[in-house]
Amino acid sequence: MKIAIGSDHGAVELKDAVKKVLAELGAEVNDVGTFDAAAVDYPDIAEKVCAEVTSGAAERGIVLCGTGIGISIAANKIHGIRCALCNDVFSAKMSREHNNANVLAMGGRVLGFGPAGEIVKAWIATDFSGDERHNRRIGKISALEKYQQPK
Ligand code: RB5
Repeated sequence: MKIAIGSDHGAVELKDAVKKVLAELGAEVNDVGTFDAAAVDYPDIAEKVCAEVTSGAAERGIVLCGTGIGISIAANKIHGIRCALCNDVFSAKMSREHNNANVLAMGGRVLGFGPAGEIVKAWIATDFSGDERHNRRIGKISALEKYQQPK
């Protein structure tokens, strides 16, 4: 599986740890940065990772920042992206089975490397259920991308 990954300065070490887990899983990883402690803006990283996913260059993406919050909010602004901020394995599995999340977000100042690795393993291993009700709900999420405030 091709995975695009990126972090801001708040999660560079977690990114390296996650890349090791992805390598163990046999994933092909495209790391879009950042690569050191110099501050960068997490929306720029979200854009780079999500562009890989929406273009089809990567099947899925992983985005990381200090909390995972800012970068997940940014990722979810991009049409076609369903980004799930997960701090536990159950949420990671559900984000795949029910929401068909194509991007996983985590926080480098929230999670230890061990728990984050377990979350990544579960998220990579879990398929979308494909159930009609979940497809319907995901369709409604896509429709919200065209939402405009009623006048
Ligand atoms: C950067 O200091 C920090 O705000 C960022 O990593 C993230 O936690 C934002 O949601």
